[in-house]
Amino acid sequence: MDAPLYLRPRVDPQLASLLTDRPFLHSLVDALGSPLNVLLPEAVARNAARFRAVYRRHRLSGRVYFAHKANRAGALVRRLAAEDPAAVGVDVASLEELRHALGCGFTGDRIMATGPKDAEFLWLAARVGATVNLDSAGELERLSGLVRTHGLGRVAVLVRLSGFESAAGHGGAGTRLLSRRSRFGTPVRDAEALLSALERNADAVEFTGAAYHLDTTGVEEKARALEQCVLFMDECRARGLAPRALDIGGGFGVGYVAEAGEWERWTTALSEAVLGVRPPLTWRGHGYGLRNEGGTVRGAAALYPAHRPTAGPGYLDELLSLPAPASGRPSATLLLEHLHDLYIEPGRSLVDQCGLSLARVLDVRPADTDSGHHVVRLGMNAGDMSFEEHGVLVDPVLLPRDEAATGEEEPFGVYLTGNLCLEGDLITRRLVFLPRLPRAGDLLAFANTAGYAMDFHAHHAQRQPAARTVAVERRGDSWRWCLDEDYWPITPLGGTPG
Ligand SMILES: Cc1ncc(COP(=O)(O)O)c(C=O)c1O
Repeated sequence: MDAPLYLRPRVDPQLASLLTDRPFLHSLVDALGSPLNVLLPEAVARNAARFRAVYRRHRLSGRVYFAHKANRAGALVRRLAAEDPAAVGVDVASLEELRHALGCGFTGDRIMATGPKDAEFLWLAARVGATVNLDSAGELERLSGLVRTHGLGRVAVLVRLSGFESAAGHGGAGTRLLSRRSRFGTPVRDAEALLSALERNADAVEFTGAAYHLDTTGVEEKARALEQCVLFMDECRARGLAPRALDIGGGFGVGYVAEAGEWERWTTALSEAVLGVRPPLTWRGHGYGLRNEGGTVRGAAALYPAHRPTAGPGYLDELLSLPAPASGRPSATLLLEHLHDLYIEPGRSLVDQCGLSLARVLDVRPADTDSGHHVVRLGMNAGDMSFEEHGVLVDPVLLPRDEAATGEEEPFGVYLTGNLCLEGDLITRRLVFLPRLPRAGDLLAFANTAGYAMDFHAHHAQRQPAARTVAVERRGDSWRWCLDEDYWPITPLGGTPG
């Protein structure tokens, strides 16, 4: 057997304590079926407080808007609605998310509407007094038309910018650096047309600031975009407009794998496996984007950087402390000097450590190779737990039904397959090492799935059951639970409203 290559999850004390309560988690799946999603609403409030602490450290004002798209459940949104209205809002990217946020207790003035929007979404956002984060000049015209036609009040708007350019090389000579390309937002080079449109429609919209969201982990790229937005807002002020907030989007990231060494060992071993100098680590030798070209590894691994030394609030702190490329002043100082509010839209990082997904082991059998590996079929499919779709590689935690016979146990390499009658339905294409071979009836717990993994891609193919979602809370020395739809932040779980 190959030496096990683990990618063990990073779990904070609350999630770790939940994972040790095997009888509780088994009883939940016995009652509610597999797969099952478990949320910890208190964890999302703790994360919001950590982001707020970074604001305080840099003496910045503004709001943390939860990017709702990361998780569709109600418990996390309701828990955040109970936070300080001046500090925490919600970013909605569809009409249904907007309706949901309103129903969870967010008032319109705490809501940011992002993404491309149809007329119904624009109308409801305008009607309830949400801030509209405009994707384009066309959207601005459509919104203004709706405001006039339906006699709505002036709508607060931000303009989303993209295509930030900057000069690289000495004294600005040399190549131009273009930031990550995006389908969304208005390229900075077209900002003039946008400004004219804002001025033309000043009766219908109140321009309150600029926005960007860059889908990258690169902190320098974000600092560059931030500074260019500040310069853009200076230009706006020079034209008599009065922007006062900068929205820097989300993308602060999460560390999924606890140990850097495990991540480094696994990624090195992937390259070796692609070159054929060690046995495959993946189903049918899948390379996650890497390939062997004449003895050299080519391509880029399409993987999320699963071990991250800095993520979430720490990443925001780093970004705000980083000198802006043109002025050399820390990003936070730029914001402070201009008296701009800072808005952020964290999704994945705000729900870090806020949940897990459980699956029952249905069947275990040898793989169709003589490797000694096994195939473990789960009561879930790749849509129910979609880490793989996002390139996130991290081990599940084995929760045996019965106390494992210790002593004789040894690590096993397994492939995790789903409950669909489909060759491609693998929970992950990675060979996963578990401390022992699972048995039918055991549970696998995928930790930290609240961001994009537990319900983003869930579907009803083959009429397989979609996961139920429960909220859990630690009370004394035990865990209490309720269905997601029954969670309200005023009711201690298992108690009466307080
Ligand atoms: C406009 C916008 N804001 C915020 C986010 C949330 O990003 P993350 O979950 O990486 O924090 C996204 C993600 O797609 C987005 O498009």
